[in-house]
Parts: sequence; structure tokens; C-alpha cells
Amino acid sequence: METSLDIYSVLNDTEVLKSGHEFAEMMTWYKCAIMEVETKLNVLNQEFSLQYDRNPFESIKTRLKDPVSIVNKLKRKGLEISVDSIQENLHDIGGVRVVCSFQEDIYKLARMLGSQDDVSLLRIKDYIKNPKPNGYRSLHMIIAIPIFLSADTKYMKVEVQFRTIAMDFWASLEHKMKYKKNIKNPEQIVARLAMCAETIEQIDLEMQSIRSLIDKE
Ligand code: GTP
Ligand code: MG
Repeated sequence: METSLDIYSVLNDTEVLKSGHEFAEMMTWYKCAIMEVETKLNVLNQEFSLQYDRNPFESIKTRLKDPVSIVNKLKRKGLEISVDSIQENLHDIGGVRVVCSFQEDIYKLARMLGSQDDVSLLRIKDYIKNPKPNGYRSLHMIIAIPIFLSADTKYMKVEVQFRTIAMDFWASLEHKMKYKKNIKNPEQIVARLAMCAETIEQIDLEMQSIRSLIDKE
């Protein structure tokens, strides 16, 4: 969620940024980068389905961060508002979210993607093994991939989030509820949401264990 700075200055800075040709050009590169990552994951899904007779992921969603959110984030972090600063400092302009069936599939897919020749793994945050205190779980990877343009090659960063259906269920509802301000018992709400995340984790593991049992038969 973006915290509100001075909305007028954010909007004004966004207009200035968007007015330059460089910004539109850079956003196109990010768009190409998420298309590349999506294709890579679809290829892995096809191969995996053939091998194991099931799809490792349920859905894949891509998004480009919108210009207002970009400017908001730069300002919040006290960073310069320019295309160079964006490429240098922000890692989530291009985002890919992969919702998997089971936790095992997350690690399999992440390993396969991260080890491809043209993929550089810049950062990995395992919020499955180390969930956030509020209960948030997912595997986050920041990768850089090449975009081949007519004159040169650009290396663009993409944030890839891997989650199970269960983790996605929790994160989606928690995200929606975050927007509600002036809650009476925030501590209690946070604690109950964390409890839900624990219960969901147990179900996730149980589902995986049931599948392993079926696979053995
Ligand atoms: P950002 O500056 O917010 O990108 O922080 P960061 O670089 O430390 O990234 P982090 O890995 O913590 O999380 C980035 C993204 O993960 C967010 O934009 C959300 O999509 C998702 N995320 C992280 N924490 C939460 C959470 O508590 N709840 C939900 N619903 N999503 C979360
Ligand atoms: Mg983010």
C-alpha cells in the first residue's frame, strides 16, 4: 500500500516524469522483460506437465507498477525522480506473480528459472521458511534478464513472487483489509490474521502430504 505524501507534488512529479520520451521507452523495456519471464515460466509449465502429468502452477499474473506508485515510492525513500534512479533503485517495476499448487512446486520452479543461462538471480527472500511477523508467506526473487533490442541489449529487473493457492488466498484478503483505516483493535486483528496464516500453512502442508501419498500409489 502506498502511503500518501503530498498528493499534488506526487501528481506533478509524475506528469514531469511521464512527459519525457525516456520514461515511456523504459516502461516498454520492463513490459518486454515481464513478457520474457512469463514465457519462460509457461515453457517450464509445459515441460513439467508432460513429465509429471500435472501443472505446477495454477495461474500467472503480470503487472507494471503504475507511474504514481513509482513516484510515491521514490519520494518515500528520498530518491531522485529519474529513469536512471528508477532502474537503479526500484526492483518491482515489472512484477510476475506465480500461484502454484504445492510448496514443492514453488521451489522447483524457482530453481529452474533462477538457473537459466540468461537469468541473473539478484536477490531471493524466502518468506515461506521465514514468514513475516504478520503471517505473510511467499518466495520473492529479483532477477535480471536481457531484452534484445535492435541496437543493444538491456538488462531489466523483474520481481517474481511465488505462492501457493493458500498463501495467495491469505495475502489477497489481508491486502484488502489493510486499506480500512481506524480499526478499533488493531493488535487483535493482526494477531487473528497471523493465526489464520498458521492454519492455512498447516492445510498447505497436509495437502502436499496427501498428494505425495497419491503419487506413491
Ligand atoms: P517494497 O518496497 O514494498 O517492495 O519492500 P521490499 O523490497 O522489502 O519487498 P518485500 O519483499 O517485503 O515485498 C514486496 C511485495 O510483496 C509487496 O509489494 C506485496 O506484493 C508483497 N507483500 C509483502 N508483504 C506483504 C504483506 O504483509 N501482505 C501482503 N498482502 N503482501 C505483501
Ligand atoms: Mg513492492
